[in-house]
Formats: sequence, structure tokens, C-alpha cells
Amino acid sequence: MTDNNGQPLTIDRYAVLGNPIAHSKSPQIHAAFAKQTGQAMHYEAILSPLDGFATTVQNLIAQGFKGANVTVPFKFEAFDLCDGLTERAQAAGAVNTLTFTAGKIEGDNTDGAGLVSDITKNLNVMVQNQRILLLGAGGAAQGVLLPLLEQSVNLVVANRTIEKAERMVSKMVGFTHLSQASTFGGLQGQFDVIINATSTGLTDTALPIPDSIFTKNTLAYDMMYGRETPFMAQARRNGATVADGLGMLVEQAAEAFHLWRGVRPSTQPVIQQLKQKIGI
Ligand code: ATR
Repeated sequence: MTDNNGQPLTIDRYAVLGNPIAHSKSPQIHAAFAKQTGQAMHYEAILSPLDGFATTVQNLIAQGFKGANVTVPFKFEAFDLCDGLTERAQAAGAVNTLTFTAGKIEGDNTDGAGLVSDITKNLNVMVQNQRILLLGAGGAAQGVLLPLLEQSVNLVVANRTIEKAERMVSKMVGFTHLSQASTFGGLQGQFDVIINATSTGLTDTALPIPDSIFTKNTLAYDMMYGRETPFMAQARRNGATVADGLGMLVEQAAEAFHLWRGVRPSTQPVIQQLKQKIGI
């Protein structure tokens, strides 16, 4: 017997929930992981109504789904819905990975671990004991703050609205001595790793950050992928090494896959496959 997608009914099922969701690369990534590791599972993209996220999740549980990824705009709602949260999900204040066990919803956030893995493993750049600049203080920045702080000796969060950066830093109990908030214009010195977690890439807006923060040894990382952002262009002009967020996308998926299946897939072939498809 098969379901609507032609899958055997006994197969473990997973989904990514978002709105919009048609653009999501997660089904392709998880299918590649499953094939590579021989895991019998099916992963699909599901469009959740904007006002019906909780119902969509309950429907998945009723249908026997084992877990789900959550993307824009539901990561905060997912956080509120969970019965249990990992430490990194609590720090992020947002959830991108749900696991359904015995009717309970466990929430995790694999974004930060995905970012750190991409930088250290794929790009071969050391993050530990480095001077890190995180640009932005919205959901994307909050989601990666703890894993970055765990690596860094000195982390600056710069944001257009300085109060949001201050609030974000002050909430990281145990790390406040390592981190500080700044305006873009107030940035001083140079950084080993600069991460753009603002949404300015979507609107092709340049950030008012000084050229002097980049060196030829800086890694400039934009969490967006698939396009050259003004941030990336500025970093390139100043001699920095530049990377986009495609590797992070695959690494956060690998972290979720590992959580669900207990197997760690090899990410490099999947990153290469996506790069070829996107044409970068
Ligand atoms: P996301 O979930 O993508 O992080 P968000 O929570 O709305 O989205 O946060 C967007 C981030 O991009 C914020 O840091 C925002 O700065 P503010 O906190 O000052 O709003 C930043 N951002 C958006 N547009 C910007 C712009 N034109 N210039 C500078 N920063 C911008």
C-alpha cells in the first residue's frame, strides 16, 4: 500500500514546513542524505497556512510523521509549540527541527551548528579563539549566536537598531564578558570572521560598515546563498575570502538528519550537487 506520493506507508516520514515553501531545497538535500546512507525515509515540503502552523504540526503527528524541519516564518511559533527544547534552541529562541516521540514535540535548532561546521570543516577556517563580527540582531542572528560564542574569544554584534544588539548580547548569560554590541558606524578594528545575518541581501542593500574591518585574512560569510550580495561585494573589494550560506543550509540539514536517524551523512557531495544545480 502506498500514500499519495507513492511511498510505502511504513516508511519513516519527515517534512519541512514553511510559507512559502516551493523554493525549499531541503527535500532534495534529505533525499540525497537518505540515498547515501541507505536510510528508508521520505521527506517532503509542506506549505502550512500562515494562521495554521500548530494544526499542521498536529496533523503530521496524527499521520505518524517522525519529525519536521521548520523554516520562515514559523521558527518562533515552533519554539512555543515544543514540549522540550535543547539548550541551543533555548538560546536561539527559535526552533528549526522538530522530533515527534510518543506524542511529544522536541525542539532543536541546528542553524548555528550548521554555520560553524560549514566555516570550520568546509571552508577550513578556524573559528576558535578568533575575533568574530555578527551583523544583524534578528531571528537569523539570534539563531547562530550561542554556537559562535562557544567558539569565540571576542564577538561583536552590530545592528542598525543598537538596542536589539544590546538585548541579544545581554541575554547570553555566561558569555557577556566575551561579547559586545555596536552600531555599524562604530565598528573598530579588524575581524577574522564576519558573518552577515541581516536580511539586506534580499533587497540588495549595502550595509554602512567600514572597509577597515576586512583584511586579506578575513572570512566574510553571508548566510544568504545563490546571489552576490552587496556585503559580499564589499568584502571582495577589500581582499577578504567570501562565502555564501549554501554550505550552512546543507550542514544544518545534516545535523537534523543525524538527530533523527543517528547517522551523519557526508555533506560535500551534496553541496557540490546543489552548486551545480544553482550554477555557482
Ligand atoms: P531574519 O529572520 O532574517 O533575521 P528579522 O528578524 O526581520 O529577519 O531581522 C532582520 C535583520 O536585518 C535585522 O538585524 C535588521 O536590522 P534592525 O534590527 O535594525 O531592523 C536587519 N536589516 C534589515 N534591513 C536592513 C537595512 N536596510 N539596513 C541594515 N540592517 C537591516
